Amino acid sequence: MDKDLIVWSEGYSVHIPEIDEQHKKLISLINRLYNAYLNKKHQSEISQIIKEIKEYAFYHFSTEEKLFEKHNYAEKKEHIEIHNGFIDEINQLVKTHESSSLVLTMKTMTFLQRWLTNHILKEDKKYVGKI
Ligand SMILES: [Fe+2]
Repeated sequence: MDKDLIVWSEGYSVHIPEIDEQHKKLISLINRLYNAYLNKKHQSEISQIIKEIKEYAFYHFSTEEKLFEKHNYAEKKEHIEIHNGFIDEINQLVKTHESSSLVLTMKTMTFLQRWLTNHILKEDKKYVGKI
């Protein structure tokens, strides 16, 4: 039985169906990683999921950023900087997991969980109705 680290609820909605779907997909990828972690899956499987999270996050950020551009969103610059900060951190994570025997820790899981939920609830919520 799979356990969820993050459960999507209406409270996370930004009322843009395309973005909500992408957020759900990111949540499901983080939950997949969490289950791989709980079930002590092989390092290569863990690395693969982390890479998927990275790639999907990039794709998702570019979707949001295109909408910021299209609607000339006032807080575009600050928001993109936050995305870029996350990109740096996930790149570091991918590197660490590729190059060493370092195991996935609950600390990393908590980082991903907090990052995504806080980002949606604090940063993404600011653009609701504006993009
Ligand atoms: Fe965002």
